[in-house]
Amino acid sequence: MNLTSKLPQVGTTIFTQMSSLAAQYGAINLSQGFPDFSADQALLERASQAILHGNNQYAPMTGLPVLRQAIQDLIARHYNRQVNADTEITVTSGASEAIFDGITALVNAGDDVILFDPAYDLYEPAVSLAGGVCKRVVLKAPDFRPDWSEFASLITDKTRLVIINTPHNPTGTCWQDDDLEQLWQAIKDRDVYVLSDEVYEFIHYQTQNVSVHRHHQLAERSMVVSSFGKSFHLTGWKVGYVVAPEAINRELRKLHQYITFSTVTPLQQAIGEHLLSTPTASAELSPFYQAKRDVLREALASSRFRLLPCQGTYFQLLDYSEISDLDDVAFCQYLVKEVGVAAIPVSVFYQNPPTEQRLIRLCFAKDETTLLSAAQKLARL
Ligand SMILES: Cc1ncc(COP(=O)(O)O)c(C=O)c1O
Repeated sequence: MNLTSKLPQVGTTIFTQMSSLAAQYGAINLSQGFPDFSADQALLERASQAILHGNNQYAPMTGLPVLRQAIQDLIARHYNRQVNADTEITVTSGASEAIFDGITALVNAGDDVILFDPAYDLYEPAVSLAGGVCKRVVLKAPDFRPDWSEFASLITDKTRLVIINTPHNPTGTCWQDDDLEQLWQAIKDRDVYVLSDEVYEFIHYQTQNVSVHRHHQLAERSMVVSSFGKSFHLTGWKVGYVVAPEAINRELRKLHQYITFSTVTPLQQAIGEHLLSTPTASAELSPFYQAKRDVLREALASSRFRLLPCQGTYFQLLDYSEISDLDDVAFCQYLVKEVGVAAIPVSVFYQNPPTEQRLIRLCFAKDETTLLSAAQKLARL
């Protein structure tokens, strides 16, 4: 047998590696991005009721009507954008599936796709499986602002898609309104689409989240992706969605119907009912996570780590250059084995990581006691 890998560069992700090292060494796991607390009991009840009451067969390919209706309302409430629940919303098995469907639907062999590095690890493999080539704008610490003239210099007739992500994993930064306008100005006269990964849309510490939903012209070219895993502390449910104009959605659904066909029915039913009955839940998420962020930041304030600004997501970046000269992968291995805290090296999110950068990412979607114990260990360094 001579099996040729389609993704020769891809191995087991650092998230899996760090989580298994954390288990092996009994370390506090602030590496992988998932909450260690329970979701709303009422939502869990709805899911078990949905199963017991027979919502157990295939859902419609595009998503259960109750959930698509609830998403339509959510977008109208938060962004004052009216979308058609039948033609412009597709429910997917996590944001990951939506991203994969969207990239596969739009990118052809030889197309260029522009990414902003550091970038979520799913984008590049999906682009390369579609035969596309990633071009990267590097975001630099400490503020990770996009350089729009560099971006403009990468656009050519081969550019097909731009992938953006705000609030941003791993840096915890958020774009400003002006960024979306700059993006629009750079692509408006070209046949270029946008995939906007907004899975942390309700976890931001600014007065208003910057979203493609609010930029009408950009929205007409975009697939906006989100995830109830993030918004309801249920990463294991893998229920996400994409909002896109009908013509783009039609192409994306062609992928969705053969990749998963439909998403777990009782979970869609539960989330749809829950969103309709507790419309304030999404607005409560930012203050909830802001309190956790502040607990962690305060507990590390007098340590030798330098805390970078955190404007959104549940990730906090720490600069450890005063503590060690190790590269960030080696430093994270030292942390998990010797200090008892698992973190993620930020270099893994770059194709060409800046060599001088000494940054790690901590996930603060954890109980306060977990955060304080981890901070106590880190503050000893
Ligand atoms: C930026 C970003 N996009 C997409 C995803 C995937 O979301 P889901 O678990 O809903 O597939 C994640 C999950 O961590 C993420 O951080």
